[in-house]
Amino acid sequence: MDAERRTNADCLEGIKEVIAGGVSSSMRAAAVPLPLVVRRADGCLLRDVEDNELVDFNMGYGPHLFGYADRDVGDAVADQFTKGHMTGLPHELDAEAGSLVAELVPGVEQVRFANSGTEAVASALRLARATTGRSLVVTFEGHYHGWSETILRAGKTTLRTEGTRPTDVIPGAPGMIPQALAHTVQVPWNDAEAVEELFARDGGRIAAIILEPVQTNAGVIPPVPGFLELLRDLTSRSGATLIFDEVITGFRVARGGAQELYGVEPDLTVLSKVMGGGFPVAAFGGRKTAMRMFATNEAYHGGVYAGNHAALRAVVSTLTKIRALPGLYDELEGIGAGAEDALREVFAAEKQLVHINRVGTLMCVALLKKPLEKRDTLRDLAEAIDFPRHRRFQVLAQREGVYFHPNALEPWFLSTAHTGDVLDKAAGALRRALTDLG
Ligand SMILES: Cc1ncc(COP(=O)(O)O)c(C=O)c1O
Repeated sequence: MDAERRTNADCLEGIKEVIAGGVSSSMRAAAVPLPLVVRRADGCLLRDVEDNELVDFNMGYGPHLFGYADRDVGDAVADQFTKGHMTGLPHELDAEAGSLVAELVPGVEQVRFANSGTEAVASALRLARATTGRSLVVTFEGHYHGWSETILRAGKTTLRTEGTRPTDVIPGAPGMIPQALAHTVQVPWNDAEAVEELFARDGGRIAAIILEPVQTNAGVIPPVPGFLELLRDLTSRSGATLIFDEVITGFRVARGGAQELYGVEPDLTVLSKVMGGGFPVAAFGGRKTAMRMFATNEAYHGGVYAGNHAALRAVVSTLTKIRALPGLYDELEGIGAGAEDALREVFAAEKQLVHINRVGTLMCVALLKKPLEKRDTLRDLAEAIDFPRHRRFQVLAQREGVYFHPNALEPWFLSTAHTGDVLDKAAGALRRALTDLG
């Protein structure tokens, strides 16, 4: 097969012959309105099989704080492959990786490692249910916690489905058992009254609240002041477990994640993405009291590959690097602010109505059909977004050499590789795309 002469479309057709739908995650199927088949990735640049270079703002959905092909994590993992990367036995790396997580994340003393965010969330929910002896789990509309059976809800699509309410818990995929979500309830993000009412009514039945402490998977909407504190207070008083899903925010919005940024400590924290620098690894953890049922082996969490030595080398390499760079989060804030300014200039120059929400290196960038007054709620944001036009914009931008997710609610991710030069280049390409969009 001569890959050199093939187009993206040809390649994708070939892939589709042997990979159902052409992708190994359903999430990815929606993300390629134009065929794009990657040949390599460096820094924040993708090169496709046609040899086009694209500035990437999707960045593999968030793990690459230091950009693609980071030598430190690559070399560390390669070295581990020469020493045995999977034995299914304890290793000194367990202590090293666990200590680094515990040192950096305020609410964590002990962890268990897992292979993916989905597994770690499912295990944290099970632990919360086992510890409290209760079943009900509370989450928020638009918050994504992976695709396991008791938490996968239809997400962004329901926002645009006539007649759905923010509290409707709709199964996220065909084939889920009808009762899968019977013990999961949903409230609107940032709605203090709704949460207070729920706890007043059902507090004694609630095992856990799980949330993205910044609602990143739909709109990058930060918590309104006092909201996380309210959740902390309600869960402490009712004996429920407060779970922060920091799969995206962990080691990204601050060294210690959103819990450090907002000064609120959960009972359990779920981590993944940045922690492994692109290597598949996740963790869930908390204070020793919260992890007690694992210490005594009363709770169950498995996985042949969970915490394998290569994955933990990736964690040790990434977190050691983060620890050694005291100015890193100021630098990342500078990159985020610079990108936001550059984008605002582009959309203003092209007279386009746009919404930009940013927390550090996480951004929502969405073309609007009407001005947005309330920035704190998902429903208002979703109503104001011009989804079809944003999608057309994405296709044009991709042709001009910039890649971002076509769903306007999906976050944009920045890294230390998004330097001024690259951002200038991206700004030029986005302006051309907007001119074509008209
Ligand atoms: C906040 C959050 N939780 C959980 C997950 C699930 O992680 P994974 O895809 O590794 O299973 C994701 C994935 O994007 C996520 O963003």
